[in-house]
Amino acid sequence: MLARIINYLTPAFLLLLSAFFGAKALLLRLFFTTTTFRDVWFALFWQYSGPRFFAKDHASVSRLVSQCRGKVLDIGPGSGEMIKHLPRPPLITHVYGLEPNIRMHAQLQKVIDAEGLTDIYTILPFGAEDADALRGAGLEAGSVDTVLTVRVLCSLGEKRLEGALAGLFECLKPGGQWLVFEHVRNGRCVVSGALQEFYQIFWPWMFAGCNLNRRTREMLSRTGKWDVNDLVDLREEEHWEIAPMLGGGW
Ligand SMILES: C[S@@+](CC[C@H](N)C(=O)[O-])C[C@H]1O[C@@H](n2cnc3c(N)ncnc32)[C@H](O)[C@@H]1O
Repeated sequence: MLARIINYLTPAFLLLLSAFFGAKALLLRLFFTTTTFRDVWFALFWQYSGPRFFAKDHASVSRLVSQCRGKVLDIGPGSGEMIKHLPRPPLITHVYGLEPNIRMHAQLQKVIDAEGLTDIYTILPFGAEDADALRGAGLEAGSVDTVLTVRVLCSLGEKRLEGALAGLFECLKPGGQWLVFEHVRNGRCVVSGALQEFYQIFWPWMFAGCNLNRRTREMLSRTGKWDVNDLVDLREEEHWEIAPMLGGGW
């Protein structure tokens, strides 16, 4: 019971923490436009909270990321929390990290260098929706072995979401894989689902467009034609969780 109450209150705590970093971003006065302010804010929040509050996902994320092979498209690597779990060459040949928040880039590059991946990891400063930029960077249709999305599909813009997913699917070679780890809408516990909808009123504003109620499994199932679908709910027994995780490889 206590675990359940803590779980229900965790988003409120994260909202408060985000408000603190929003105030800090304002004080730093590092921004000139709304977008930049939002990016500074989220970068401050994530660089502090990512390693601290999402550690319980560590084992699943590391297992998933270690399955990357060949040419990898890493969507939204953030500050590089997952990079240490990437296999080394020759299992991977090159990684393209699509990170539109340039305020994350310095920390991300630091991790890439520290992990000895400087020559094979390229940061690209645009989002997954930007098909033209993808092609411009040499990421042609059918050229990628692995698409990796960890805690990022919740943040892709709603309007261009289906197009973005279709574009990423198109990048995959025949027989390529899409590795997924995401928090999703809880469809099994009415209270958890309702609380997600309540928190969702504030969530995208406070977390740079992140959505707490996204039905990611259904969205992915509608994208492309899959030979194998290995997606699983990672927290089967805790079906009341407010941010149940969906994981697996495709
Ligand atoms: C919650 S963080 C996760 C970072 C990292 N994947 C991890 O799990 O440690 C989400 C990241 O996705 C990035 N992002 C947001 N919208 C994106 C988009 N449209 N395309 C690519 N990345 C995006 C954000 O800038 C942020 O760095």
